Amino acid sequence: MRIGILGSGAMAAALGGAWVRAGHDVLVGGRDRAAAAATAARIGAAKDGTLADAAAHGELVLAAVPAGVAPRLVNELAAHLAGRTVVDCTNSLEPGDDGPVPTTGGTTSVARLLADAAPGAHVVKAFNLCHVSIWTLPRPSFEGVPLAVPFCGDDPVSLGRTAELITSMGCTPMPCGGLSRAVYIEAAAAFAIGVWWSGAQPRFAFPAIERAPQASRP
Ligand SMILES: NC(=O)c1ccc[n+]([C@@H]2O[C@H](COP(=O)([O-])OP(=O)(O)OC[C@H]3O[C@@H](n4cnc5c(N)ncnc54)[C@H](OP(=O)(O)O)[C@@H]3O)[C@@H](O)[C@H]2O)c1
Repeated sequence: MRIGILGSGAMAAALGGAWVRAGHDVLVGGRDRAAAAATAARIGAAKDGTLADAAAHGELVLAAVPAGVAPRLVNELAAHLAGRTVVDCTNSLEPGDDGPVPTTGGTTSVARLLADAAPGAHVVKAFNLCHVSIWTLPRPSFEGVPLAVPFCGDDPVSLGRTAELITSMGCTPMPCGGLSRAVYIEAAAAFAIGVWWSGAQPRFAFPAIERAPQASRP
């Protein structure tokens, strides 16, 4: 798959590295060309360039920049991003009384802001729940179970590309519905990060259960 990455920092390197290892055609794009070239060289990506180069390269384009920057950036690149899949891995958090809270207030999502900023693009929320260190692991698996990656979006082609990408990394796609669900995935990140910061492990609160009968679901 042709993948463009907006940004050349930690998430760009971790996810980009996993995608290079999986055989994808990755272009790392940055506002700092030297930093983009250095990240591309470090992860073995064949290409690097500007942010516009990355937007124009990818069938799928990862926004790996601060959440406060991403809407304006995709708006500036909207002409390049039209018709493409834009994967939003951002988390936008600020301190709250009892831990981090989404800067969106939990009523909308960064992913929705990106979709509004680049209406021709197909936004998918994914890859924001795990710390960057997890994405550096080859085929991340825990207790013998491949990592599940929740994602959501409205465009079937883009959801298919995202699922293909997740599978190619050795992970399990976990489709969570339309882009309206991004607000919950982003809130889940705020919750999990708050629990981690308190020294606990959020995964212990989500034990495996047998699939509930359809009728008993809310
Ligand atoms: N780190 C994690 O564990 C983690 C986990 C999940 C999600 N995320 C999310 O992933 C995103 C990237 O995080 P990161 O850890 O990769 O951050 P990072 O290492 O600080 O990298 C951020 C990248 O964004 C670029 N950037 C900053 N401001 C920009 C602007 N105004 N225009 C264009 N590019 C700009 C930076 O470029 P310069 O080098 O030129 O400044 C850098 O390449 C964030 O939204 C974060 O919330 C991070």
